[in-house]
Amino acid sequence: MNSVNEKKVAALAAVKYVKSGMSVGLGTGSTAFFMIEAIGEMVKNGAVIKAVATSNETEKLATKIGIDVITLAEAKRLDVTIDGADEVDDDFQLIKGGGGALLREKIVAHNSDMNIIIADSSKSVSKLGKFKLPIETIPFATKLIKIELEEMGLSPVQRLKGDADYKTDENNDIVDVDIWNTTVKLTDLEQKLKTIPGIVETGLFLTTTNLVIIGKGEQAIEKRR
Ligand code: A5P
Repeated sequence: MNSVNEKKVAALAAVKYVKSGMSVGLGTGSTAFFMIEAIGEMVKNGAVIKAVATSNETEKLATKIGIDVITLAEAKRLDVTIDGADEVDDDFQLIKGGGGALLREKIVAHNSDMNIIIADSSKSVSKLGKFKLPIETIPFATKLIKIELEEMGLSPVQRLKGDADYKTDENNDIVDVDIWNTTVKLTDLEQKLKTIPGIVETGLFLTTTNLVIIGKGEQAIEKRR
């Protein structure tokens, strides 16, 4: 079975945790797409769902299919958030932000009682870092941050869209770094990166995930923290 179908299998298994009356965080990306579609179906069938979107793209899609999208401030707290990941390891640690939405995704995850990560089997890894770690930076500081990241041995590359700098929904830059060979513990690396002024957020999600659902063939494999 190809990865697209595995994404769908994982997404549909996750939606079973969504009940009428809940406030739900909606992730971003091609896996989250199937979850949003399925929640749209629930709404069509009478479920009352209030949703907070993790990106403009997700907000547009959710609104189009009739999901009531509210602000995080209106929601105050979310019952459950369902989102994809670029990599997930056996300790429920993630790399996210391949689609550039890491900042809102981390804020939404932080404000959610339960976080479910959905992914196809290719995203499940024993060690994080084959996927480059996205770091969101304030444009005023990006060039100098890149120099610091280079000195840390992280081979930073600023993300582009065509010939121009890639911009996030918050109009920030993304710098992708290579953490594969880093000897620093991920929690220490995260802390160190966050002390550099101008780094807004990193795509390391180390503590927020409660449940991982991996689509493997026709099966959804659930792993709870
Ligand atoms: C968005 O910025 C990301 O964090 C996505 O959640 C992640 O890139 C997974 O996307 P796919 O489901 O499209 O692989």
